[in-house]
Amino acid sequence: MSRQIKIFDTTLRDGEQSPGCSMNLREKIQMAKQLENLNVDVIEAGFAAASPGDFQSVREIAKIIKKSTVASLARTREDDIDKAWEAVKYAAKPRIHTFIATSDIHMKYKLKMKPEEVLKQAVEMVRYAKSYCDDIEFSAEDATRSDPDFLVEIFEKVIDAGATVINVPDTVGYTTPDEFYNLIQTIQKRVKNIHRAEISVHCHNDLGLAVANTLAAARAGATQLECTINGIGERAGNAALEEIVMALRTRKDFFDLQCDIETTQIMRASRLLSQITGVQVQPNKAIVGANAFAHESGIHQHGVLNERSTYEIMTPESVGLSQNKMVLGKHSGRHAFEERVKMLGYQLSKEELNKAFQEFKQLADKKKNVYNRDIEAIVSKGSIEVPKVYELKRFIINTGNTITSTATIILKVQDQEIEEVSAGEGPIDAAFKAIEKIVALDTSLEDYALHSVTEGKDAQGDAIVKLKKDEKIYVGRGLSTDIVESSIHAYLDAVNKILFEAEE
Ligand code: KIV
Ligand code: ZN
Repeated sequence: MSRQIKIFDTTLRDGEQSPGCSMNLREKIQMAKQLENLNVDVIEAGFAAASPGDFQSVREIAKIIKKSTVASLARTREDDIDKAWEAVKYAAKPRIHTFIATSDIHMKYKLKMKPEEVLKQAVEMVRYAKSYCDDIEFSAEDATRSDPDFLVEIFEKVIDAGATVINVPDTVGYTTPDEFYNLIQTIQKRVKNIHRAEISVHCHNDLGLAVANTLAAARAGATQLECTINGIGERAGNAALEEIVMALRTRKDFFDLQCDIETTQIMRASRLLSQITGVQVQPNKAIVGANAFAHESGIHQHGVLNERSTYEIMTPESVGLSQNKMVLGKHSGRHAFEERVKMLGYQLSKEELNKAFQEFKQLADKKKNVYNRDIEAIVSKGSIEVPKVYELKRFIINTGNTITSTATIILKVQDQEIEEVSAGEGPIDAAFKAIEKIVALDTSLEDYALHSVTEGKDAQGDAIVKLKKDEKIYVGRGLSTDIVESSIHAYLDAVNKILFEAEE
């Protein structure tokens, strides 16, 4: 029988702490639920001691998640471990994940500690964490640049102190597949009590080797693989969950390893993350990129039409890409819409379904064919929306290449209508300036992007606006067949998120 591999997802911790990927509480909860739909074994929900916001999100995720283990990161310090436990103790399966650096360079310049002090602190803090919780993971930060003898010693001692998982991070993405394979084998052979713990690996992608290193470690005997959706994470990111999982599945003949990920939920997880963070994956990204299953060349298309396996090593359906091309339109009823939403893998409450159906009807009035991607865009937008303090009532734009663009914006705020006019460098700039006058928040526009949801002239524009307020980025999203309207919606969504968070 194939050896079982556990998937540890750190999108909400290592991924979330990378620039441009921060999420608010609701978004983290939404993402955690999708990770549970994916059936990941462990969700690292955050670093509880990092901030009150992190603490709250770890605690709320711990309360909601039932199947997956929920972990919080903690330095090897009592106060960090106390906070981690306070937050994860609500989980059905809680875990404390504590770490300290073990490489000479980190011990000398970052920790300013001697190896014996690091060893002592690691053992004491694992023992301390164990007084709270059975499931303890210990990470030797910068393991791949650490002295292997020291690694063997510290792992053996922390297992004696109660660690149930020992993690070998390639913190700076420095190792190579063969070297990492050998390191994992060394740990397996030389750590005397290793049979009492799982070996985990955690690879960063600085040399583009994170997935290759992770897979090499799995072959060498690692049984827990740490990764993130879309490979987000510090610097060049972490190993991408979807790539690891699909490699294990597609090349089962070679790896002979088994994991329990529900692969048909991969695409949804990837898109949800992009929607929340506003960070799109590159079109040629393996597994989840827009072109990952597109066959452009005539020879390839011909081959695939005759026999899919000529150029397709995995099916689009296996990662949750729907091949149902039947379009809906303005004559499609509620039942057809509801069926399609279900087929796309969404479970909506009655209220959510009513709202999504209304939006679908509005869209179908403007757009002849409503595709699955349109429906997914509507439904997933709804899942991360916040209450609307400001809502668009009407807008009028005057623009051209020989005149200054002006925008009149009328917003609804608590049954009142407020109108402002502004000029700008083009219609979008004018519209944003008019909104700024109404909402009067001290924000700066950090990013603005517009993508079409599907092909075709009547495609919906999916606008992303990133506003910065007090050093925090708020991502707003708007959908419409009119690109000015989608941009206004996206701006207002970001404004409403700022106000929602201020209220919480
Ligand atoms: O990259 C790293 O070393 C980490 C540890 C804290 C596991 O993220
Ligand atoms: Zn990391």
